[in-house]
Amino acid sequence: MSNELKFRVPRVQPYFSRLKNHWTWTAKSLLTPSQALRERVQGKVILLTGASSGIGEQVADKLADAGAILLLVARNRDKLEMIASAIQQRGGQAFVYPGDLSDLETCDRICEQALQDHGRVDILINNAGRSIRRSIKFTYHRFHDYERTLQLNYLASIRLAMNLLPGMEARDEGHIINVSTVGVQANPARFSAYLASKWALEGWTWVAANEFAHTGVRFSSLNYPLVRTPMIAPTKIYRYMPVMSPETAVNWMLDIIITQNKRKLGIFGKGALAMYYLLPKTSESIVNLSYQSVFEEPPANYLSSKVRAGNAANTASGKRQHRA
Ligand SMILES: NC(=O)c1ccc[n+]([C@@H]2O[C@H](COP(=O)([O-])OP(=O)(O)OC[C@H]3O[C@@H](n4cnc5c(N)ncnc54)[C@H](OP(=O)(O)O)[C@@H]3O)[C@@H](O)[C@H]2O)c1
Repeated sequence: MSNELKFRVPRVQPYFSRLKNHWTWTAKSLLTPSQALRERVQGKVILLTGASSGIGEQVADKLADAGAILLLVARNRDKLEMIASAIQQRGGQAFVYPGDLSDLETCDRICEQALQDHGRVDILINNAGRSIRRSIKFTYHRFHDYERTLQLNYLASIRLAMNLLPGMEARDEGHIINVSTVGVQANPARFSAYLASKWALEGWTWVAANEFAHTGVRFSSLNYPLVRTPMIAPTKIYRYMPVMSPETAVNWMLDIIITQNKRKLGIFGKGALAMYYLLPKTSESIVNLSYQSVFEEPPANYLSSKVRAGNAANTASGKRQHRA
């Protein structure tokens, strides 16, 4: 193998058609959004994960009504079948692919089956997600919190992409949408496991976008704020906070499908990002103040740091006495 550096002439023409497309579709999304959506998705095969609940469930309905062929993925088969049958009764096309995406072989199996059944996937929406709200100090003995979030939010998403990207690359057409959160900009306390997995997903998305920019394959990230779905229902404090409605969340998704923009981020996310870079210490103090102000129940089998440190010291002194 030669160690010589080899160069090629890069293709720059696609940048110009991409720019033109961007303005054309942005105008369409503002002026005639329903028609633009139909134009974008009619007859397209869309694999949507997390389709059994929350944002995914409602997005599935809208996309199917706009003429897309929906492949619905989640663990709950009964729920998926209910959603698919309601779509079919309205004259739409939806097929169910149940499975636990935390298992990477299941991700492969679902993609293989989907490609066998439909020949291609034009749009992949990585929407299935798991959130964990817990302080780092309460996760010392819960390393699996980090594993579970990474497994679903990051690894499963890129495993699906790895299966479906070759077809998109060969057709020089495709769109991968990764659902993230505004937490990536705001870094709220108690979400270390969840946010680390979404940061990883976004990191992958931006590198992929850069590598495929001269092709017809696009990558997008949706940075949702809190949305009123079953995901946030267990957290009492969110019941009293103003949060985004599922309908608005669905519109964000439809808008990014039309425009194929790289990111959808609201005003709060932009503000948080600016604060973080311009006034990093102030931003940290604001988050920390809110962190300290809200009491958090420790998990059932939690041992305080003092008890842990005491146990560790006892074990160490026991070992020393034993050696003596
Ligand atoms: N709600 C919010 O405040 C908020 C804010 C920012 C970002 N987000 C993101 O938005 C996306 C959608 O969330 P949502 O609010 O609509 O939540 P949701 O109502 O709890 O829905 C989560 C979906 O993921 C599926 N899922 C969970 N674990 C799975 C697994 N192991 N394998 C396959 N599917 C699995 C669930 O279906 P099954 O249980 O049937 O498997 C369900 O369809 C997530 O990526 C989330 O991180 C939500």
